[in-house]
Amino acid sequence: SSPLPSHSPRRRPDYIPNRISDPNYVRIFDTTLRDGEQSPGATLTSKEKLDIARQLAKLGVDIIEAGFPAASKDDFEAVKTIAETVGNTVDENGYVPVICGLSRCNKKDIETAWEAVKYAKRPRIHTFIATSDIHLKYKLKKSKEEVIEIARNMVRFARSLRCEDVEFSPEDAGRSEREYLYEILGEVIKAGATTLNIPDTVGITLPSEFGQLIADIKTNTRGIQNVISSTHCQNDLGLSTANTLSGAHSGARQVEVTINGIGERAGNASLEEVRSENLLKCYEFFVMAIKCRGDHVLGGLFTGIDTRHIVMTSKMVEEYTGMQTQPHKAIDGMLKHKGTYEIMSPEEIGLQRSNEAGIVLGKLSGRHALRDRLNELGYVLDDGQLSNLFWRFKAVAEQKKRVTDADLIALVSDEVFQP
Ligand code: KIV
Repeated sequence: SSPLPSHSPRRRPDYIPNRISDPNYVRIFDTTLRDGEQSPGATLTSKEKLDIARQLAKLGVDIIEAGFPAASKDDFEAVKTIAETVGNTVDENGYVPVICGLSRCNKKDIETAWEAVKYAKRPRIHTFIATSDIHLKYKLKKSKEEVIEIARNMVRFARSLRCEDVEFSPEDAGRSEREYLYEILGEVIKAGATTLNIPDTVGITLPSEFGQLIADIKTNTRGIQNVISSTHCQNDLGLSTANTLSGAHSGARQVEVTINGIGERAGNASLEEVRSENLLKCYEFFVMAIKCRGDHVLGGLFTGIDTRHIVMTSKMVEEYTGMQTQPHKAIDGMLKHKGTYEIMSPEEIGLQRSNEAGIVLGKLSGRHALRDRLNELGYVLDDGQLSNLFWRFKAVAEQKKRVTDADLIALVSDEVFQP
């Protein structure tokens, strides 16, 4: 049987803020425009944010976290514009994404977030406060009881603004004391929270631990069956996708992710370190893992993402943020028989099978791959010609890592070979 997954998308269930209408549906919460933009150097203009939001809607994202409205006037305006436009554009299937604004747990932030998102058909306020001992002691300088009181009052306040959809995050949940988490989460549910997001803020947990954390929260928190549980996994140990999958396996039905895995990191790491550290929350990986293995291993989980738009969205974010993604690896095996190494097809994520579109020739590419690509470009070589060219191609590949179509054409033109 073919290892290739089916292309037929499953129907997206109706959106109801505090109810899961299909128990296997995993909502995609995209925070590229909020957490992603917090990557050093990844600042986006309002126009770029709007373009990305439109593209995210096309991709089929359920919730777009458009920004942190209290952070700056520009961010406020960008979120408001996205709420007014993308948040009111119903697609051909009758779907419109939720537009979300982040806020700390204080009235001013929450009011500002509401002022920005309220124009959307489906507005959401996402409010957070830290719950780990270390954050309570050094950052908030507050007792556990005080933090519960603030969280409860602020979720109630957000609901009082007539916002039906309120998400709460206990920041640094990965290092928070369990009993305390169950207690604060139970209190915010009573106050009206509709989604509980569990952030592994410092990326410290292992997949088995994170899965267990979600499972324990689901077992021990009062009222949790009435709300959506969510994951938000950082990549400090390179485990964010694995942790997110583990969380979904344990019952989380929303996952927070960014395009190309861009995202925030505390501290003063250099840009290079931050970039490599923060290839986090990659939903290209998460969504494709769910698509490839969801049915068999993960109990039938599925998302509403139209994977054919992944590459386009990734390229747009790469260009606008200036943060490069990892180039593709050599894929010669794929050319002999698609199933040999390929568990998903390039077309499925919106790539064409062409060199420019992303199938990169490099120093590990073989003669077969080189001949194929040259044929696609219109150059038909006999064995002797190919042999000559192959060694020159290898020399270029040693220096350049990625050999583009332009390089190949230059190489062929140097020889007598003409199309
Ligand atoms: O990493 C984190 O804890 C966050 C929260 C605001 C969700 O970004």
